[in-house]
Amino acid sequence: MTMARDITLRKAAGPPPDDSAPGTAGTPGAAAGGGAAAVGLEDVAVRFRTKKRDVTALHEVSLDVAPGEFVAIVGPSGCGKSTLLKLVAGLLRASAGAVRLHGDRVGGPRHDIGYVFQRAALLEWRTARRNILLQAEMRRMPGERARARADELIAMTGLSGFEDAYPHELSGGMQQRVALCRALLHEPPVLLMDEPFGALDALTREQMNMELNRIWRETRTTVLLVTHSISEAVYLADRVVVMSPRPGTITEIIDVGLPPERDYTETLGRPEFREAAGHIRGLLGAASAQD
Ligand SMILES: Nc1ncnc2c1ncn2[C@@H]1O[C@H](COP(=O)(O)OP(=O)(O)O)[C@@H](O)[C@H]1O
Ligand SMILES: [Mg+2]
Repeated sequence: MTMARDITLRKAAGPPPDDSAPGTAGTPGAAAGGGAAAVGLEDVAVRFRTKKRDVTALHEVSLDVAPGEFVAIVGPSGCGKSTLLKLVAGLLRASAGAVRLHGDRVGGPRHDIGYVFQRAALLEWRTARRNILLQAEMRRMPGERARARADELIAMTGLSGFEDAYPHELSGGMQQRVALCRALLHEPPVLLMDEPFGALDALTREQMNMELNRIWRETRTTVLLVTHSISEAVYLADRVVVMSPRPGTITEIIDVGLPPERDYTETLGRPEFREAAGHIRGLLGAASAQD
């Protein structure tokens, strides 16, 4: 399929070639590829004040994500991963520091992002297609364009033949595909995913990982994915951000160093994959890491 986005964006992904810290992508916040980062966090802190306690969820977090780059975020529960995504979406305000999307300061909820959560959160009384088109209705997208884009996404995610099925007639994996189509309908330059496959069985999850790799390559969307799975993070991402327990800071950013097109079995057997996964497992500690 053809997309308006320029294929050369891919070249901007990842750190510039002269940023050559071995095995890592340099310091957090290092400019990636020149020009405005798709997502930029600069010395960001988030503090929650409730009646019972004050919680520092994020502390001095700096990260630049290049246009078209795929960045995965791993870290123990409660380290601020969801908080980080909400900041980028403009659903939360930083207590300190700056959050930017394509160079613009994020000051409120953003419409130029897509968001996928662990639960598909589909409307039970709407068919798959009409759940996807909900995005268009909320954004008042022209109907014809929205329907054409929905059809493209349905084909791309393997949902053809299930357009008219209701959520209860779909498997968990199919429901997440519908949620993904809904998030991509308006062609957002940035896609935020918060443990999107956490509720799926292992085989379906692998399949979704392969599909997400392909969809990312086809759409050139910048992706920020939060996951508990080290192998999911390494298989999918250009770089993996490892976070520390609360208050969440970035411990290290690992440059995976694999080509964008990744056959699942072949990739998991590659030395770069094993090295990155082993390194991340060591950083997280056996107790908090999954697979
Ligand atoms: N709205 C909120 N009010 C108060 N505390 C919050 C709020 N949202 C998150 N927190 C706290 O901030 C910390 C980070 O939360 P979160 O970003 O959800 O972590 P993660 O997604 O990594 O598991 C946790 O200690 C959580 O309890
Ligand atoms: Mg979370």
